Amino acid sequence: MIVETLNGKVAVIVGASSGLGRALAQLLSTEGVKVFALARSIESSNLASSIIKIPLNIHDFKQIDEAFSAIDKQTNKIDILINCAGRGLVKNLEDTTRDEIIDVLGINLNGNLYIAQEVYKRMIHHNSGHIINVISTSGVKARADETIYCASKWGLRGFTESLRLAAAPHKIRVTGIYPGGMDTNFWKIGKFRDTSQYMKAEDVAHQIIMVLKSPTTIAPSEYIIERGF
Ligand SMILES: NC(=O)c1ccc[n+]([C@@H]2O[C@H](COP(=O)([O-])OP(=O)(O)OC[C@H]3O[C@@H](n4cnc5c(N)ncnc54)[C@H](OP(=O)(O)O)[C@@H]3O)[C@@H](O)[C@H]2O)c1
Repeated sequence: MIVETLNGKVAVIVGASSGLGRALAQLLSTEGVKVFALARSIESSNLASSIIKIPLNIHDFKQIDEAFSAIDKQTNKIDILINCAGRGLVKNLEDTTRDEIIDVLGINLNGNLYIAQEVYKRMIHHNSGHIINVISTSGVKARADETIYCASKWGLRGFTESLRLAAAPHKIRVTGIYPGGMDTNFWKIGKFRDTSQYMKAEDVAHQIIMVLKSPTTIAPSEYIIERGF
């Protein structure tokens, strides 16, 4: 089997300050990838010193533009985008505030679209690239107490599937990753939930690295990653 080497490639990871995004940043860096890591609290994320940290609130257009100007000054090609910024919301619809709806859709859906658009415009010029959108099993399953979260992830799934069709003629691969529960800060919201038996972010990150290493003759489309035994 031909496996692509990642050494020397350039990756942008949004949501890299903790959990899955952080694990991906660390792993890709050890594979010899030049990593641009973005998130609001990226400066305090204790990532490897070789990783370039750019603070970003994905809600803020000005910060998105500034982040990409900073990236453009340091590279003329982005090979990999991992859209991993997200927040959870487990709440009945009748108890959910409008601010929560704006925040969840603004990060999980709109924010990831704005970032993908910026990177896609750059990848088109090179006729190559791989965009990974981290979605969730909540992007394929309905959940009564996650109406808004599911809406954000089903929306991101629709975008991901459509972008794959648009991107294929440009030789840009687009993959949707659908993890089940992971033991991360994501669950530090609302009521306590014991996540100790959930998947480890590092294990899921290894699966995503495997996807990224697929030969260009393979275009992984949708990858559901569920907990094993
Ligand atoms: N954990 C799970 O069970 C699970 C399951 C399926 C899918 N997912 C998805 O996996 C992805 C990663 O989540 P995780 O589990 O690794 O949780 P996490 O540890 O809470 O990581 C979430 C990341 O998103 C970033 N983020 C949140 N709001 C942001 C904003 N306004 N601007 C920029 N970055 C922002 C956070 O950074 P800052 O706070 O520093 O900005 C952090 O780096 C998310 O898309 C989540 O929906 C998680």
